[in-house]
Amino acid sequence: MIVLGIETSCDDTSAAVFDGKALRSNVVSTQLVHRNFGGVVPELASRSHVQLILPVIRQALEQAGIRRSELKGIAVTYGPGLAGSLLIGLSAAKAMALSLSVPFIGVNHLEGHLWANFLAHPELDPPFVTLIASGGHTQLVHVRERSDYRVMGRTRDDAAGEAFDKVGKLLKLGFPGGPVIERTAKSGNPKAIVFPRARLGEQSLDFSFSGLKTAVLNHVQTIGEEETARNLPDIAASFQQAVVDVLVQKTVEAAGRAGVRSICLAGGVAVNQALQDRMREWAEREKIRVFFPPPALCADNAGMIAATGHYYLERRIVSPMTLAPLPSLNL
Ligand code: KG4
Ligand code: ZN
Repeated sequence: MIVLGIETSCDDTSAAVFDGKALRSNVVSTQLVHRNFGGVVPELASRSHVQLILPVIRQALEQAGIRRSELKGIAVTYGPGLAGSLLIGLSAAKAMALSLSVPFIGVNHLEGHLWANFLAHPELDPPFVTLIASGGHTQLVHVRERSDYRVMGRTRDDAAGEAFDKVGKLLKLGFPGGPVIERTAKSGNPKAIVFPRARLGEQSLDFSFSGLKTAVLNHVQTIGEEETARNLPDIAASFQQAVVDVLVQKTVEAAGRAGVRSICLAGGVAVNQALQDRMREWAEREKIRVFFPPPALCADNAGMIAATGHYYLERRIVSPMTLAPLPSLNL
């Protein structure tokens, strides 16, 4: 059963074809227009989606080598995300589903991120704990079964990726902050500066990154511009280490509480090598297996949406044409 997936929740316009076993294509067009603004501008994002959505869908079908008439369903992200951006993908999906007389399936973007690991590791079986860490979300999810989720902790303020982006901006490294901070940190000493790790109490599996961002800002203001420019690798490495420490410690704690032997990483931040290495190190000590998707399936992409939609379509769980975008949708 061949499914087309569409993802437009933020600043990536993406379409993918999943045939039930593998991705035949996964086209992602990242909108560069936002780089000039140091963050995603919602109005520009939805306008770019309008321009890009049809060419991206066409390219996904071409790369997959299939005709529209072979599609058995259209899966699309309906939340969480930017309202105007979600609306473009949802409208395109509904129009295609209507014109082809096939069902359409609204997919939760967070569930899509979770699903990236099923796609990348067919041997993966619940139960496990997933850390979803991206620009918009940081959550710990106990996956008891496919489609049975319990959120164990979430951020109370900034998402982990958002912290990377804000610190990237204040260090004048550009947007998005994650990749450039990781590169800059490679030549730095992660123990050079002790930035705070918000624990939020013994029992809590929630996260907070806004205090860390403020601590970096205070440090930079204290040492001044020249010293900051000289010490960029140390600042980047120390900041990255503070984020990684908290993410790893809480994820391993969550796995212990849930009584699972596997941990998955998902979302844009999951490509971070320091995070992957430290998670593996800790998990090995506890004899826990760690999974993460390849980079193309960590960041926002329609492949994960197509695969999730395929699962529901097989079970005949589809959406009504009245489905509206839900910007604050939860798992
Ligand atoms: O999943 P994603 O593509 O979009 C959202 O759903 O938000 O994640 C984007 C986020 C950005 O905040 C970006 O800075 C972060 O992932 N990111 C990274 C790295 N690459 C991307 N964070 C840390 N290290 C990286 N190498
Ligand atoms: Zn995402």
